Amino acid sequence: MSFKVKDHYYKKAKAQKYFARSIYKLEEIDKKHQVLKKQDRVLDLGYYPGSWMQYTSEKIGPDGVVVGIDIQEENQKLSYLKNAKFYQKDIFSIKSLDDLEMSTPFDVVLSDMAPSTTGIKSVDQARSVELIESTLLLLPVLLKKEGNYVFKIFDGPDVQGLISNLRKNFKKIFQFKPKSTRSISKEFFVIAKGYKNESV
Ligand SMILES: C[S@@+](CC[C@H](N)C(=O)[O-])C[C@H]1O[C@@H](n2cnc3c(N)ncnc32)[C@H](O)[C@@H]1O
Repeated sequence: MSFKVKDHYYKKAKAQKYFARSIYKLEEIDKKHQVLKKQDRVLDLGYYPGSWMQYTSEKIGPDGVVVGIDIQEENQKLSYLKNAKFYQKDIFSIKSLDDLEMSTPFDVVLSDMAPSTTGIKSVDQARSVELIESTLLLLPVLLKKEGNYVFKIFDGPDVQGLISNLRKNFKKIFQFKPKSTRSISKEFFVIAKGYKNESV
């Protein structure tokens, strides 16, 4: 179902030249939990159309780098972001940092990925969990020790179990529903800080 309500955040994003209203979710998360800082090297999973890339690029400054991957074709309108790189890739195809032409893990991984929705709640929710589980398997390769991981997930029966498992791997875990998330939405964000990367 296509769902593009022209609400306050949609209009604000358009006026501020951001490519999506999602910008305000990341902004709220970052203001509350300080996930991004100057010079960070950041991976943005499911970046398209790119408002998180726009926000992150500015926040990390010219000495940082933000790498965006998405299954969608590259958004050429983001070429003005000089500290950004883009890959048209499926998260399920990423196996190593070589796939992203990087040699060291990232300071921060962000995921606003959402599966293409079927409208069947249980199926959409299971797909959202599957996407996140695939990223968790890759974290030892992608995220450096002490790094932060912020991801979106659709709430459902298996989600609290997944989050409790994460507590072993991060110093702090927060769950957050930004004000800019539509009230009918089942999505929320997990902010995992201080990765205890045991593989290094
Ligand atoms: C809500 S949008 C992201 C919006 C983005 N954060 C922004 O600020 O513009 C979710 C994105 O996840 C991407 N996505 C879904 N499944 C994916 C996968 N398996 N690999 C990579 N990207 C995926 C979709 O193509 C979609 O562009």
